[in-house]
Amino acid sequence: MAFLIEELGRHLRLYHVEDAPEISDAAYDELFRELLDLERAHPELRRDDSPSQRIGAPPAEGFAPVRHDVPMLSLDNAMSRDELVGFDERVRRVLASDEPIEYLGEAKLDGAAIELVYREGQLEVGSTRGDGRVGEDVTANLRQVLSIPLRLSPGARPVPERLSVRGEVVLPIRAFERLNRQREGRGLEPFANPRNAAAGSLRQLHDIDVARLRSLAFYAYAVARAPAGVTTQLETLELLGSWGLPVNPERQLCQDPTRAAAFHDALAARREKLPIEIDGTVFKVNRLDLQTELGALARAPRWAIAFKFPPQRRETRIEAIGVNVGRTGALTPVAKLRPVRVGGVTVSNASLHNEDEVARKDVRVGDTVVVQRAGDVIPQIVEVVRARRPAGTESYRMPRHCPVCGARAVRLEGEATTRCPNLDCPAQLKNNLLHVAGRGALDVDGLGEKLVDQLVDQGLVKQLSDVFELRAEQLEALERMGPRSAGNLVAALARARETTLPRFLVALGIRHVGATVAEVLASRFGDLPPLLAASREEIEAVEGVGPIIAESVESFFADERNRAEVERLRALGVVWKKAPPGPALGEGPLAGKSFVLTGTLPGLTREQAKERIERAGGRVTSSVSKKTDYLLSGESPGSKLRRAEELGVAVIDEAELLRLVGA
Ligand code: IVH
Repeated sequence: MAFLIEELGRHLRLYHVEDAPEISDAAYDELFRELLDLERAHPELRRDDSPSQRIGAPPAEGFAPVRHDVPMLSLDNAMSRDELVGFDERVRRVLASDEPIEYLGEAKLDGAAIELVYREGQLEVGSTRGDGRVGEDVTANLRQVLSIPLRLSPGARPVPERLSVRGEVVLPIRAFERLNRQREGRGLEPFANPRNAAAGSLRQLHDIDVARLRSLAFYAYAVARAPAGVTTQLETLELLGSWGLPVNPERQLCQDPTRAAAFHDALAARREKLPIEIDGTVFKVNRLDLQTELGALARAPRWAIAFKFPPQRRETRIEAIGVNVGRTGALTPVAKLRPVRVGGVTVSNASLHNEDEVARKDVRVGDTVVVQRAGDVIPQIVEVVRARRPAGTESYRMPRHCPVCGARAVRLEGEATTRCPNLDCPAQLKNNLLHVAGRGALDVDGLGEKLVDQLVDQGLVKQLSDVFELRAEQLEALERMGPRSAGNLVAALARARETTLPRFLVALGIRHVGATVAEVLASRFGDLPPLLAASREEIEAVEGVGPIIAESVESFFADERNRAEVERLRALGVVWKKAPPGPALGEGPLAGKSFVLTGTLPGLTREQAKERIERAGGRVTSSVSKKTDYLLSGESPGSKLRRAEELGVAVIDEAELLRLVGA
């Protein structure tokens, strides 16, 4: 369960904060269900920080936080007709009703959820969902979305003094494909799917692309509080429509689950013909009084369910199998497919992951394969259609040499990956540059693939640090670069120089050092020199760092060339704030003590309290158990206080904590 919570948390961040998911929605849902099943079987082990207890990810830096008056909830999923029937049974059980319940079926729009607050009919604030309670203020960007009225028109009933409308911002599929073609032309990473493109467009901070915002569409599907006189979900939508808000166009009243399933199937059949991406249907108890009676759990209301579509599948042919060279030199076989439309989106590549995977599926050039798209544009190859294999195909052999630099490829025993061992391989340099420019690293806006290719191919960048020496005149001379984009890039590089130690560590691309490991290393060592001076044992003694990571960090910094590169980056003005080093594991006044936090503290935020505790060598966990040493309790503590008292755990306040840490 701990593993699932950690993993789901990471994927939520990738999805909501970085708009760069690593796994498909279907794969996420599967992990999530596994956790829900475990929590159902072992409710006593359910943790307060489980994603089942929250809805999204907290707002990222850069946008002002907006608190939603009424939390923006998520929806529970049904994967099959049986589960839909199960939902209906639950609803009728809670309502103690033998009568059929009427549902409003709606298309489940696959975009980004937002809230629009209108005061006296004027758009005041628009925000993302964030973690459901606090989202990000994206009003300025939303004002550019043409289908969002800036002022409501008089409708069937008077517009309330304050109205919070919820709905989905989506990017129509045609606009999505156009945007990705444009991005590829400019050497930027294409978006994985229309949903990420919509979310990414709303969260533009610099050099805002207005055309992109204008191609977004908005559809309302709910209100935070029902306007006076409205008694059903359908009336709510109709009223919103009468005020000039676009409402979810695909909807139907369904008198029972059988008819609900029929609406679902009918929509599934039309799915590919719709101009926007939908990933299922949503069924909501139509009567608002019954909705109120049913109420909500922490994450989702009990009166609604999302019935997801299965991943879409199509057959196509493998025209070739190429090999990509990654940042770490990993050679990844990639199937080039005859372009095929799956769920309205054209797909033409599919990763085959590694040599063993190709062998397992026995994928060959010329084969007809079933490809599946589960929300993402990068599809998976489900299987080879053996019956349609032409004569004379050959099983795939990994190349023996790096296709970019020609170095002899190596595959170490026990590893699935074949690698190019040449550290000077241009492919590695290019991918390293893209990595450095990425959101989790130094975040250089506008440094994309095509530009990186030119920089490396023309010899302007021979090692990473060279990017920080680029001058506008050099950039202007490149293809597709005018004075304006050159200036923008130079400005973006200047911004990227001011970073944080964790981001810098991520940027270095040390194997096994991702955001989480970088954070713990940074808080233990405070600055780079102490980390450079640390022995492998000292690195390994950091909580959350194992022998493999420690060895990787040590050998990275033991390499003269890496050290020189780090020096040069610093000499070129890459800076971060130093922090006093934290204690090593087993040191500090709170060494070995475990804390749980609850309630609001008078002087410290939760984050600050956690930092104080960790700096003093203590640990913060999320739920009270017999192993907890202290419960740090503030104003309006939750159920944790009761639990601590039951277990006889010491309860302390902020003043006591400060005394313990010696502040
Ligand atoms: S109602 C309290 N209706 O799906 C209920 N949500 O998986 C709030 N979504 O966060 C949601 N189409 O972003 C509702 N017709 C629809 C929807 C819809 C898409 C999204 C929404 C929500 C997510 C939950």
